[in-house]
Amino acid sequence: MKQKLRVALIGQGFMGRAHSNAWRQAGHFFDLPYEIETQVLCGRNAEGLAKMASTWGWHETSTDWPAVVSRPDVDLVDIAVPNVLHAEMAIAAAAAGKIVLCEKPLAVSSEESARMEAAVRGRPNMVWFNYRRVPAVSLAKRMIDEGRLGRVFHYRAQYLQEWGNDPTRPPNWKTSRAGAGSGVVGDLMTHSLDLALWLNGPLREVMAMQHTFAAGRDIDDATLVMARFANGSLGSFEATRYATGCRNRNAFEIHGERGALGFDLEDLTRLRWFDATEPRDLQAEKKILVGAATHPYAGNFWKLGHVSGYEHTFIAALGDFLGALSRGERFEPGFAEGHRVQLAVRAIQESANLGGWVSIE
Ligand SMILES: NC(=O)c1ccc[n+]([C@@H]2O[C@H](COP(=O)([O-])OP(=O)(O)OC[C@H]3O[C@@H](n4cnc5c(N)ncnc54)[C@H](O)[C@@H]3O)[C@@H](O)[C@H]2O)c1
Repeated sequence: MKQKLRVALIGQGFMGRAHSNAWRQAGHFFDLPYEIETQVLCGRNAEGLAKMASTWGWHETSTDWPAVVSRPDVDLVDIAVPNVLHAEMAIAAAAAGKIVLCEKPLAVSSEESARMEAAVRGRPNMVWFNYRRVPAVSLAKRMIDEGRLGRVFHYRAQYLQEWGNDPTRPPNWKTSRAGAGSGVVGDLMTHSLDLALWLNGPLREVMAMQHTFAAGRDIDDATLVMARFANGSLGSFEATRYATGCRNRNAFEIHGERGALGFDLEDLTRLRWFDATEPRDLQAEKKILVGAATHPYAGNFWKLGHVSGYEHTFIAALGDFLGALSRGERFEPGFAEGHRVQLAVRAIQESANLGGWVSIE
């Protein structure tokens, strides 16, 4: 008989839906030893909660998160609320002995993320850096680990959105420091930083510039960073909400001595690959359609060419996390990796405020 895993989800917004779907679907695509009980959905709007619970199959609803995180009939707390609330909720859930999953950015400062990491030490935890689980990104990781790029020269990352430039869009928690802690550096660049640290190793130092386009806003609408990695490669990172024409361009390019890789979430089933070891007169960039039998997650989702999408990144993150949980293995990215990203964010903010290069611990 499968072991019951009783889940509480806090958040009834965009990520509340993405996570609800993942909780419903993980057991369909991954062979899990758990019977997942979608026990309680928590938010602030009771009417909306009732509707969402019936759509996504949550047994109960609540508007009282401190009560939810300490319920004895909950094993795992999944946090999908505005950034400034992550620390308090995660630390309370850990203190109540729960498994803790938290959205990115893990925290709004590295002091907070350090406390969060300490609070979950010794118990299973995860940060929803879901883009590691795009099959094309996982394939890039495998190719790098196989040595196909050789020595890396350049790592170039962009996370570009355009909605900052829409005057009809009302401000929300993401556009204030009080709700989000920061602007695009926390919201978008943390995704790029997590991927960079995973794919290309530790960062040594950064030099950054931040800019606010909207009058009266106290967060960065755009952040630009130059960086040096420990492996000697040079990095650049750009995140903005003012890239007209870019809906959600989470992209990177890596240039190595033996080849180059490229990815763009707006074309997420493809991995671009240039093999510089081929005869020069036959060299050309390939666009690999990811999903072939030997590719990551091919056994979980659909046949080659029957493409997977955004929601599968959450399902795969959860499938991998629950697999690791059942085997008693440490999962990545956890709070330790989330904290590592916050240390990079701190250095970026320091550099933008003071000018000059800032080292990363
Ligand atoms: N991994 C990703 O790709 C991704 C994408 C978008 C957002 N996020 C992250 O997910 C988190 C949530 O973002 P979102 O886009 O879902 O925001 P959202 O505004 O759509 O939803 C936030 C939810 O939090 C709830 N909430 C706020 N205060 C609460 C409280 N005190 N108690 C209970 N619930 C409360 C709100 O009711 C709302 O349902 C953020 O940390 C964000 O950075 C991650």
